[in-house]
Amino acid sequence: MTTLNPLGVDDIDLSDLEFWTEPWEVRDAAFATLRAERPIAFFREPEIDTPTSIPLPSGPGYYAITKHRDITEISRHPEIYCSGRSGSTIVDMPQEFLEFFGSMINMDDPRHSRLRRIVSQAFNPRMVKSVEKSIEDAADEIIDNVRGLGTCDFVTEVAARLPLKVICDMMGVPESQYDMVFNRSNVILSMGDPEYVAEGSDPILAFLNAGNDLAQLMQELAAQRVENPTDDLTSDLVHANVDGESLSHSELASFFILLLVAGNETTRNAISHALWLLTTNPDQRRDWASNFDAVTPSAVDEIVRYATPVIFMRRTVTEDTELSGERLGQGDKVVLFYNSANRDEDVFEEPDRLNLRRSPNPHVGFGAAGPHFCLGAHLARREITVMFRELFARLPDIEATGEPDRLRSSFINGIKHLECSF
Ligand code: HEM
Repeated sequence: MTTLNPLGVDDIDLSDLEFWTEPWEVRDAAFATLRAERPIAFFREPEIDTPTSIPLPSGPGYYAITKHRDITEISRHPEIYCSGRSGSTIVDMPQEFLEFFGSMINMDDPRHSRLRRIVSQAFNPRMVKSVEKSIEDAADEIIDNVRGLGTCDFVTEVAARLPLKVICDMMGVPESQYDMVFNRSNVILSMGDPEYVAEGSDPILAFLNAGNDLAQLMQELAAQRVENPTDDLTSDLVHANVDGESLSHSELASFFILLLVAGNETTRNAISHALWLLTTNPDQRRDWASNFDAVTPSAVDEIVRYATPVIFMRRTVTEDTELSGERLGQGDKVVLFYNSANRDEDVFEEPDRLNLRRSPNPHVGFGAAGPHFCLGAHLARREITVMFRELFARLPDIEATGEPDRLRSSFINGIKHLECSF
């Protein structure tokens, strides 16, 4: 529990970027206050600085949804709370952006279910099991590269490498392009953190350029696969699959961008948070390391609950409605704060305590049940499992040696750097 002075309910401003640089305890305490006193709270729209033009429409504000029950209700009713109107970010995205960046995450039926049907086979548990060996090889290689060093930046040298390699391998991206892909996906997700987008330059322009570079790479790969089919996912997606459906090259490009941003930063942050949490909870670590197979299923989900790498998703209200007694009008924005639902004291016993044996664990770190539930959840769980199995086996004394250097973002609960020794 926090020992810091909690903010009063009227002092909480989720649209102020400074709020998101507060210590985690301060943030968690503020959300506890919102859940208790104002579980559906209205906030003005955040301001995004765009020095060199490309104005973003300034919206009317949004409702922050902080209770687990309301987030599950909204996720279950896409006909009332849709994703396809101006996107899943708080600030509306212009239509051209949505086509490019959103892919299925910004779509509603029937487009959403068509796309999801085409790609979902590649992410079901059986398929994910079949890539286990390549995840293991990737994890081994990453560990080989740092093993002799004794210390390293865990995020850049270990955690970030695995999901990037796994997605690039699945899609058939050549190794020579990994750095470019990594750099561009950082720019897209950081939304203005000065480490990735230079202070004074336009984050929106940087975002668009990064998207363009990735789309171009994918268009080239797709064109090559049409000529010369290979055994990667790109090839499967450009050729008709079992249902006779395939993706157009531009659908493929925006799906690739979604996979990169949805699959990279999230999984890498889960792995980075995990090392920090294991370092600061040594008894939990001992239990997991010495009972690996028994504890893993609950441990991995507890890490995702506790860390909540994706802080929110937005939906837009399609018709006047009521949610937990609060009236919402057509066009209102509702923002689902998963971090808050994952600490909801009505659902979780001792929600602020990491408990790697927590069961049941109905967390919403991968979203709540509904059509947009994380497509990559099985893959992410597998990557986290393999990474820690290998780390416990090969670098058994690895631990964080410094405080996490956090990403300045309200969207991703990111760790940019974490020094470690082994
Ligand atoms: C720990 C890691 C991860 C976390 C915490 C995470 C979290 C999320 C969340 C919160 C959503 C939105 C759910 C909703 O709106 O209802 C989502 C959607 C999605 N995720 Fe993940 N994710 C992770 C890993 C991955 C991976 C590895 C991939 C793929 C390689 C992936 C691909 C996707 C896709 C494609 C969607 C959109 C699904 C749709 O709109 O139908 N994610 N994820």
